[in-house]
Amino acid sequence: DSQPELEIEGSTYRTDPWTNVPQSILSLIPRRLHLQPSHPVSLTRELIESRFPSPTYIHHNDLSAVVTVAQNFDSLGFPADHPGRNRSDTYYINQDTVLRTHTSAHEADIFRQNASEGYTISADVYRRDAVDRSHYPVFHQMEGARMWDRGKVPGGDIAKAVRDDLARMPKHDLEVEDPNPTVDPERNPLQAKHHSLEEVEAVAAHLKRSLEGVVVELFSKAKQAAAAANGPDPSIQEEPLKVRWVEAYFPFTSPSWELEVFWQGDWLEILGCGVTKQDLYINADIPNHIGWAFGVGLERVAMLLFSIPDIRLFWSRDKRFLSQFTTVDNINRYKSFSKHPACYKDVAFWLRSSSSSAGGGLRSNAQDFHENDVMEIVRIIGGDLVEDVRLVDEFQHPVSGRKSLCYRINYRSLERTMTNEEANEMHESVRGELVKKLGVELR
Ligand code: PHE
Repeated sequence: DSQPELEIEGSTYRTDPWTNVPQSILSLIPRRLHLQPSHPVSLTRELIESRFPSPTYIHHNDLSAVVTVAQNFDSLGFPADHPGRNRSDTYYINQDTVLRTHTSAHEADIFRQNASEGYTISADVYRRDAVDRSHYPVFHQMEGARMWDRGKVPGGDIAKAVRDDLARMPKHDLEVEDPNPTVDPERNPLQAKHHSLEEVEAVAAHLKRSLEGVVVELFSKAKQAAAAANGPDPSIQEEPLKVRWVEAYFPFTSPSWELEVFWQGDWLEILGCGVTKQDLYINADIPNHIGWAFGVGLERVAMLLFSIPDIRLFWSRDKRFLSQFTTVDNINRYKSFSKHPACYKDVAFWLRSSSSSAGGGLRSNAQDFHENDVMEIVRIIGGDLVEDVRLVDEFQHPVSGRKSLCYRINYRSLERTMTNEEANEMHESVRGELVKKLGVELR
């Protein structure tokens, strides 16, 4: 199945030994769920965009998914050995070209255009990952950024200019935990060569208030949805919305944070953000700028907002799913239209021991075995008929030292009842491909 060239949205790309993107993934590029009218991913985008109005913010929603390694990683300061660059995690078109793994891939280009004080980018992003109800190899992100030009601010007083902008933003009465100081010398450093603490305090406050505003907007809609679904029921005491800021790390921001929302008993991470690294502005020929950026996962938010229990549903073309969503002014809870039985099947195999590396080129030596390769084989064969894939047993032979793994695959359609024969047939193909592609030995 290796072709010399790949055709993607009218452009042709050469392939090479790095190429690892399957046709099944390429076939999802034209779907553009974030632009499909009334689709929950699109409604979520609209809701968040409404918090970042023009002309301050320009909205970019049609940037190509095919980007260079330089755009996706180098321009953002990812070190050469960053795990995100691995073929086990990222879809390569060829050695220099990938399907973007995040919307930040476009930051440098948009900074260079220097066309506005802010922007959002919404787009499909691609990552090789686990198979379960909250992971899909294609999902959508919205990136947002805001910056201020020192040269355009009276007296160059950035801190005051940012605080003035902050003062014009609406307040909210959301309960926010934010226990850490804005910067920490080790964990979350100030870019001391470029910024004063006062400036970064102001930028961080503007960033946090902007994103807290997004959460307030989203969750007041979710609450309306819940109330509409349940009717006025005084016995249901809705918990007050709680959010917290936690320190984080990204190669292209410092200091950095994640925002977590307390939802049905758990803290859920919904976005990453921080103060943009000055090198990005310097390399984009806007060295006098200072500002922030964030990236939010749209499916993650949409699942909370619409109570959608399985990420595969977003890709459904079934009217019983799509017809449930209308406009941002009418957010409603998803109602399951069918629940079909799960069908579990196990596959157990030995990894090749590293000494028996005859046959060359295969990636299933215990050292280079990567679980995402199993996940992809299952996805290519089972498509959206697989709900999740879980490692259920791991075992090392005491004498030979060989390692054995057992994965449990849950075959379940969201739309219809599958027959046992159908699941068996797929499972047989999975077993065959594991041997063929990974060189494992079935047990
Ligand atoms: N691109 C980051 C991610 O995908 C999120 C992010 C965007 C973080 C912008 C900081 C600034 O995880």
